[in-house]
Order: sequence, then C-alpha cells, then structure tokens
Amino acid sequence: MEIQMNVGKLETATYPAVVLFLPQEADPSTFQSVYSAVMARVYRQKDFSGKLEETIWLYPLEGADRLLLVGLGDWSDKIKENEARQNYQNAIGHAVQAARKLAIAELQFSLAEPVVEKFGYRLATQYAAEALWLANYRFQKYKSTIPDKEKLLQKITLLLGDERHLSEAQAGRRVGEIIGKWSCFARDLQNTPSNDLPPARLAAIAAEQAAALNIACTVHDEKSIRALGMGALLGVGQGSVNPPRFVVLEYKPQNHARVESSPLALVGKGITFDTGGISIKSADNMDLMKHDMSGAAVVLATIGALAELQSPLHVIGLLPMAENMPSGSAQRPGDIVRTCNGKTIEVADTDAEGRLILADALAYAQRYQPRAIIDLATLTGAIYVVLGETAAGLFSNDADLTARLKNAAERTGERVWELPLFPEFFEYMKSDVADIRNLASKPSGGGASKGAAFLATFAEGCKWAHLDIAAMAHPREDKPLVPKGGSGYGVRLLIQFCRDFEE
Ligand code: BES
Ligand code: MN
Ligand code: ZN
Repeated sequence: MEIQMNVGKLETATYPAVVLFLPQEADPSTFQSVYSAVMARVYRQKDFSGKLEETIWLYPLEGADRLLLVGLGDWSDKIKENEARQNYQNAIGHAVQAARKLAIAELQFSLAEPVVEKFGYRLATQYAAEALWLANYRFQKYKSTIPDKEKLLQKITLLLGDERHLSEAQAGRRVGEIIGKWSCFARDLQNTPSNDLPPARLAAIAAEQAAALNIACTVHDEKSIRALGMGALLGVGQGSVNPPRFVVLEYKPQNHARVESSPLALVGKGITFDTGGISIKSADNMDLMKHDMSGAAVVLATIGALAELQSPLHVIGLLPMAENMPSGSAQRPGDIVRTCNGKTIEVADTDAEGRLILADALAYAQRYQPRAIIDLATLTGAIYVVLGETAAGLFSNDADLTARLKNAAERTGERVWELPLFPEFFEYMKSDVADIRNLASKPSGGGASKGAAFLATFAEGCKWAHLDIAAMAHPREDKPLVPKGGSGYGVRLLIQFCRDFEE
C-alpha cells in the first residue's frame, strides 16, 4: 500500500472514491462543496448522522464517483484526546473495510478539519497512516488466488488544503507508517505456520532485520545456549528436532549526546509451537499454538521500529526461542533444570514452558543492569478467563513502570489491566525438591498471577513488568484495525511507552 500526499481540493477532483469523516455535531447546512446537496439529503432522511462506526456510500453526480461518509461520533470537548484518537483511527478502519468490500483499490481523503483542530497536522497524519496500515492488512501469503473482495487497498491519497502544513504532515506520515508497518511485520511472523518458522528461522529473520537497521544481533545456537548455562531453555527445546535459539538484539542510538548507559530490556516469549510437550495439550485449537512466539515477534518489531525512528533510547531485546514437542528426547514432568543464574526449577508441567524459557532470559537480562525489564508472553490460558480478549494482564514490581505502561495503553488503545502479585502466589510456586516449581501446587485458580509470580522471582532486584498477552495475540473476531489471527498487539503499546520514556 502506498500513502501519497497531495495539496489540493477534494471537492473538485474526480476520483473513484472519496471519504469524508464527519463528527456527530456536524451541521449539514454548513456543508460547502459539490457534495453539499446530496449530503443534505442524506441528513434530511436521517440515514446518516455522524455517529461512531456509521458509514454510508453516496453516488454524487458531480466530483468523485463514490463518496463514503464515515462517522467520527461525539467530537466535542467532552471526549478526551486519547479516546478521540482511537475513534478517528477506528473510523479510518471502517472506511478501509467498506472500500475493500467493494474491491476498491484507491481511496482519497483529506485530513478533516475537526481532526486537524484536535491533533494538529503532524499527529493527525501520523494517526491516519498508522490506522491505514493496521486496517489494510490480511495474511494472504499462502493463498494461491485472492478473490476481488479480499484484495487490499493499493493506494491512499491524503489531501491537504494548502502547502503550509505539508512538511509537518509528511513527518507525521513517516512515523505512522513505521509504527503501522512494524505492527504488520509482527503479524506476519505470528501468522506464519510453525513448519515454516522453527526457532532457527525466526532467529535468522531477527538477524536479517537487525543487519538492515544497524542493530547489533547475536544468535546463540544450542551449543552456545549450553555454554551460557541456560538449562531451562535447553530443557524446553530438547524434545524437538528443531533446536532452540537465543537471540540478543542491541539498539544503541547514534549521534545522541546523552546515550543512556543503562538500557531498557525487552523480553519476548518465542515458542514457535507449543504442543505442551509430554504434558500434551488436547487437540482442539492446538493449531493456535503457532502464535506462541508472539512476544518475540512483538519485541523484534518494536526494536526495528525504534531503530527506524532513531529513538534516543538504548534498548536490549532478548528472544528465547524453542519448539515445545513431546518425543523420546523431550523433558519429563518432574525433571529439574538449572537456569543461567544458578537457580533450579522443578518442571512439574512441561506445558508451563513459557515461564521456563523466560526465566533464563530474565536472569540473563540482569547482566545489563537495565533501567527496567518488560517481558511479553502468551503465558497463560487463565488470562482469557480474567480479561477475555479485551486487555493484556499487567504485572509489575514497580509503580512508576506500571503507570507508564497504563498511560501508553490509554494512548494507543492497546489496553492493559493491572493484576496482583500477592505473596500467596509466590508461596504456591515453592518446590519440595528444587528452588522453585513451574506449576503451582494447590489451590487452583489465579493461574495468570502464579505464572507472573514465577517470572518475578527471576527479575528480582530490577524494575520489571510482565504483560500476559495470551488472549490479545490472536483475537478470534475481526475489528476495524485488527483482523482476526495475529494481531501485532504490543507493538504500538511498546513504541508509545518508549517514545514517552525518551522525554
Ligand atoms: N502457550 C500457553 C498459553 C496459551 C494458552 C496461550 C491459550 C494462548 C492460548 C502456555 O504455554 C501454557 O500452556 N500455559 C498453561 C500453563 C499451565 C500448565 C500452568 C496453561 O495456561 O494452561
Ligand atoms: Mn504451554
Ligand atoms: Zn506456551
């Protein structure tokens, strides 16, 4: 998809399809364009009033062949800026889906006045470009033919009323495109089937991206993982013919006077497929476990975007990768493994493998003395029970980090919800035979918090937050900006977090 920017008047051009975004309070008597007569008619009939998510196609006799009206909803000052941003982006999502239904390849729209008034030109364009990328995404790589109605938009032209704001708008478009593109990059990885994405391949993709962007990247193979003493990661990977990998990314800002010596560490769970291992899962929906590397995909995408945005933050990405398989060489329930900080773990359940590989990665992160560690993981089915597909579970040992993540979530609409790390949850993870167990001994319930408590013990002494993204990584329902399948959830959140952290 190409997003073009032109200076000109929407009303006078003859395009195949033009979109107008209208707030609920719009007064149809003030419309002044070749479309005003037909729009006044629609309003008179009350077929459209600018409510959020409302769309209607018109076929005016002058100007564009088709005119799409899209509601922005309440656009008054009652609506907070964050909410308005999300409403605007969703409205763009609705426009894209409406155009795709008619197999329209090109859309034109101008930055609506009320939108520019609220956000300014730079942000209005940034939000638009980001939303266009997010909405105009489907995973089609494996389809031999694509029916017309599933085709994606090829070109979008944003029109500016005059030249004065062009450079501002272009700067905004650039940022929005970077954020949108990298979200889609994460989705592509999430959606790629596990037969085409074993740990070695995922690691190679990380290395390729890093090389193109001047990000330092080290790929540890099985031998090197053993040398690092990462027994938990090795244990999870030992049942598969596709050996584990541990990828370390380091983005260091260049030409920034104040280079933070102490980096931010981002850790992402990279299980390329999770059968459960010997504690094998049941067959229903097991195919969804190809998404179990979502955390790693999101961290890689975030660091790629930060590099392209030339972020002044120093960021480390730690991506433990393994395939969790049952086999003659697989680890058994009851095995005890040793992580790279010397701690021993009783593997009570081989299906609680995410926390095992993260234990090694979190312990490894400590060597950087990071300002903060954030891990993202499709960690527990239990998080579905608590939050459904509405928010990621947020667990943290630091109030400031929590507040910053909540703020980034509110701005981007990638929601988080804080959940507790009560002392009991740590108690339940105690082992009779090792330093810790990977599965709680009774009582049942609170699975997401127990998993988080397990992780917390490996991040001790460090500001740390954990996002359980199991329910957000692959929604089952199409939304205007997020199609079902791999969602890229977390990329926008983390980029926003980092951009706010820079200041
Ligand atoms: N990858 C799963 C969690 C998951 C479940 C993600 C459903 C997405 C959808 C994780 O490795 C897992 O199996 N967790 C277990 C933990 C349990 C054995 C303590 C779970 O949630 O059942
Ligand atoms: Mn599992
Ligand atoms: Zn898993």
